[in-house]
Amino acid sequence: MASGSRIIAIDGPAGTGKSTTAREVASRLGWRYVDSGAFYRVAALLALRHDLDLTVPADRGRLREALEAADVGQEVVGGTSHVRLEGEDVTVEIRTPAVTAIVSRVADDPDLREIVNVGLRGQVGKEPAVIDGRDIGTVVFPDAFLKVFLLASLEERARRRVAEAEPGREDDPTVLASYAQSLAERDRRDRERSVAPLRPADDALYLDTSGLDFDTQVARVVRAARERLRMDA
Ligand code: DC
Repeated sequence: MASGSRIIAIDGPAGTGKSTTAREVASRLGWRYVDSGAFYRVAALLALRHDLDLTVPADRGRLREALEAADVGQEVVGGTSHVRLEGEDVTVEIRTPAVTAIVSRVADDPDLREIVNVGLRGQVGKEPAVIDGRDIGTVVFPDAFLKVFLLASLEERARRRVAEAEPGREDDPTVLASYAQSLAERDRRDRERSVAPLRPADDALYLDTSGLDFDTQVARVVRAARERLRMDA
């Protein structure tokens, strides 16, 4: 198999467990893990730091320039994926509500998406990798040898997000409803954008993770990868 296709693409809506699954699959296979959403989040952080107005085309242009010039790196340390911008660890900052609130608007710019895609293809190069996102199997690496599309009910996804951000409040209906609403809004934006909308690749393996325990979820992807690697050996 050409090493360029030794990529596992894990796509799906927010809160389906893409990044935790992808990181664990990568660790079990000894492959590299890359979080493509982190690049859009870094772009959103740059927009905030440079005080750019996403409704102003000139500011959109400035954002693209800033992203293109930026040195963005990723590495997994002790099971946690760290994201660096010009050497500064921005792992926590790119997950703040302020970044999350604008990131899907940042990601709807086709030219900015191209900058991210070129960066992703350059970063991965020839080494095998597991990459999670929304358009990895459809646009960024359409020749990935395994494409997984993760699904989970909106309620389950909202519950997981509350558990991450506000542990102990998973049973509070008001909190759950507010997370569900913001997830549904991001899904809508991701699905309806004209460029690289969130959708499964035609040859994707569907995995509904509602009610699946994490180990089983990871094991299914690893098994599918090993089967395909064997078939190709
Ligand atoms: O996976 P995440 O929540 O960190 O993604 C952040 C945002 O970036 C989200 O709005 C979807 C967008 N995204 C995208 O459009 N394409 C990708 N390949 C990855 C993320």
